[in-house]
Amino acid sequence: MSTAKKIAVVTGGNRGLGFEASRQLAKQGYKVILTSRDEATGKGAAEKLQAEGLDVISYSLDVTSESSSRNLAEFIRQQFGKLDVLINNAAIFIDAQAGSTSIFHTKIETLQQTIDTNVYGVLRVTQALVPLMKAQNYGRIVNVSSGAGQLTDMGSGMTTYRISKTALNALTRIFASELHGTNILVNSVCPGWVKTDMGGQDAPRTPEEGVETIVWLATLADGGATGGFFRDRLPIDW
Ligand SMILES: NC(=O)c1ccc[n+]([C@@H]2O[C@H](COP(=O)([O-])OP(=O)(O)OC[C@H]3O[C@@H](n4cnc5c(N)ncnc54)[C@H](OP(=O)(O)O)[C@@H]3O)[C@@H](O)[C@H]2O)c1
Repeated sequence: MSTAKKIAVVTGGNRGLGFEASRQLAKQGYKVILTSRDEATGKGAAEKLQAEGLDVISYSLDVTSESSSRNLAEFIRQQFGKLDVLINNAAIFIDAQAGSTSIFHTKIETLQQTIDTNVYGVLRVTQALVPLMKAQNYGRIVNVSSGAGQLTDMGSGMTTYRISKTALNALTRIFASELHGTNILVNSVCPGWVKTDMGGQDAPRTPEEGVETIVWLATLADGGATGGFFRDRLPIDW
């Protein structure tokens, strides 16, 4: 079965920026597959958006699982036969709770856990889903990164989170390079400091403001930017 409507997948769509990105993409006419590692939570989040009249369905996806990523790809292949947008949004930030804030106390297990979600997770999901973009020579992949991963402005603290976002930016560059010459555009974005469970209540930005550039990159016209790192629609240093 195939559909003319553009199909978007959002990882970690059940709350925070992923939930808001799902809402904004659906408002722009996309059919959104809101994915969540907890099935019931994802269903509840999708139902909230459906109640707003939006075309959103839920599907369970744990980005740390290769089989979960493959199941999602198979579901999309059977239901829609293509994929247009992938927002790699799911991530964890566990340095403080793991006592890993200073690099001198960072535990290798914390780094492994963080990389498994924030970097390998993006690799697993993208590897599984990109064939659905290649088949139609159209795709927009947005990797939700962070200024915390910028090498030019690298500070201390948040050690494993920082390392994971720097590595994520490397994935963006490599994917974009390998997809060069196709109509599949891959970019990193820093959403700014946003009021979510991760960002905390002191953050100045609302989720709606935070997803603005994410949605812009997800909806780039043909020939648009690829292999870039953006905040507020402007390129920023790696
Ligand atoms: N908020 C900020 O200020 C800020 C700033 C810069 C960058 N970012 C980035 O923006 C993105 C979204 O952040 P947020 O603030 O919305 O964070 P959040 O509120 O903590 O939400 C994180 C989302 O990721 C999901 N997730 C975590 N591990 C997962 C896994 N193994 N499989 C699938 N989903 C998983 C969570 O699912 P559960 O509900 O199941 O835990 C949740 O849906 C992240 O990439 C983050 O690094 C945020």
